[in-house]
Amino acid sequence: MQESKKTDILIIGAGPGGYVAAIYAAKKGKKVILVDKARVGGTCLNVGCIPTKAMIQAVNHFYDAQHGHTYGIQVDHVTADLEAIIRHKDDITRSLTEGIIHLLEKHQVTLLNGKARFVSDKVVQVDTEDGIIQIEPEHIIIATGAKTKHLPFATQKSERILDSEQLLSLKKMPQKMIIIGAGIIGMEFAFIFGRLGCEVRVLEFLPRILPTVDKDLSQRLLRFAKEANIQITTQAQVTGIQDRRDHIEVTYIEKEQEKTLSADIVLEAIGRIPETQDLGLENTQIALNPNGGIRVNHSMQTHVEGIYAIGDVTHIIQLAHVASHQALVAVDHILGLDHPMDYEAIPSVIFTTPEIAVTGKTEIELEREGIAYHTHKVPFSASGKALIQNNQFGFIKLIYHPETKALLGASVFGEDAQHLIAPLTMAIKHRLSFEAIKDTIFAHPTLSELIHEGAMGVLGEAIHYLG
Ligand code: NAI
Repeated sequence: MQESKKTDILIIGAGPGGYVAAIYAAKKGKKVILVDKARVGGTCLNVGCIPTKAMIQAVNHFYDAQHGHTYGIQVDHVTADLEAIIRHKDDITRSLTEGIIHLLEKHQVTLLNGKARFVSDKVVQVDTEDGIIQIEPEHIIIATGAKTKHLPFATQKSERILDSEQLLSLKKMPQKMIIIGAGIIGMEFAFIFGRLGCEVRVLEFLPRILPTVDKDLSQRLLRFAKEANIQITTQAQVTGIQDRRDHIEVTYIEKEQEKTLSADIVLEAIGRIPETQDLGLENTQIALNPNGGIRVNHSMQTHVEGIYAIGDVTHIIQLAHVASHQALVAVDHILGLDHPMDYEAIPSVIFTTPEIAVTGKTEIELEREGIAYHTHKVPFSASGKALIQNNQFGFIKLIYHPETKALLGASVFGEDAQHLIAPLTMAIKHRLSFEAIKDTIFAHPTLSELIHEGAMGVLGEAIHYLG
């Protein structure tokens, strides 16, 4: 059976790019069809940001119960039940996806469960359980996300070789695990499983972990990794994985020597690639970048008039909140309002323990771009709240222009970095001067005071540390 539909906007992919675009466009009076081959919410809600953070929350409670004595609380026989942690995480993702489905219904967005494929620049076919639906929309937004990149030799089917999605449904706690790749996914999982008591080995190809953040941040994390049962080998080139039935073996080359490690499971965390396969893009004029992402301009337009792409499928920045913002930019462009994407102040949080958060430019980027900068560090030990939290080992780093004193970037190392990065992002985006920050009152006792203190530090006026 073939049905035909017309609509204002067809959105392919219901992750934080696609569903945000759908609700926003519907709010603006557009007739919207949203299609996804899997569950609403995409990677972020189902197998990414939300479930991993739910697990981290559980692990934090486990840790706090084990270390309550620091605060005078004694808890005996603390155990972690992986199955229960996973069940709790599943409850959270289910309630969030149900919430989104409810919002889509309330906004009269038509939700189709099926696989979309371009027939031409103007027509998309959706293969649903009830047959094929042919859609001729006025505008299309592609928001299909990304999928795990696999090592070329990890193609064998093995229950011991997992990607980050599969790791989230693990039934049994592994005693030993090997993580290939010390990027964001690799390090977040290393801390989750390491703190649950698993012996974690991380193999990273490059000379250091978290290569996208500045060295002082990744260096500081190493100390905490050790305490969390995580052993890291950098400059390790993985050359093979063998499933030996009762364990898995990973071979790698370190300092020209071949070595072998064995474990219960191995996690591949070497990056994610744009989901463009089977979309029928060959039937369109849409162009790809050399990195495999759909080529778009700053208004998220592809090469084809009326077709937009947002989120991980563009391979610009693989972050849910960037996808959601690109959704607003694309829909506004469809509505005739052009406010292009501005990538100057994008916050990013790495949920290791402690957390790392960055926004604006890193030192690495400024050096690459030949832009002069100064840095100023504010130690968490200058904050009473940090001491209360046993969180005095962190710092905020402000990166600013030596002449104009404009804030170019900032990073935070320490618990609650996730909250401190928001005001710093606002300061960069809206060009707040250090004087303006100094002139703002921050509540006491909170970690946010460190931002005020840092601004005063840059001005040579720090009160609570010798800056
Ligand atoms: P990634 O690109 O951040 O890191 C991959 C790491 O694997 C790199 O350090 C790379 O050098 C290493 N690697 C690559 N090939 C290797 C090999 N053969 N042997 C050993 N190491 C190898 O990718 P990741 O961690 O998979 O994350 C994917 C994307 O998801 C990232 O862009 C990240 O921004 C995003 N993400 C964001 C999160 C957040 O904001 N909290 C959480 C999770 C993912």
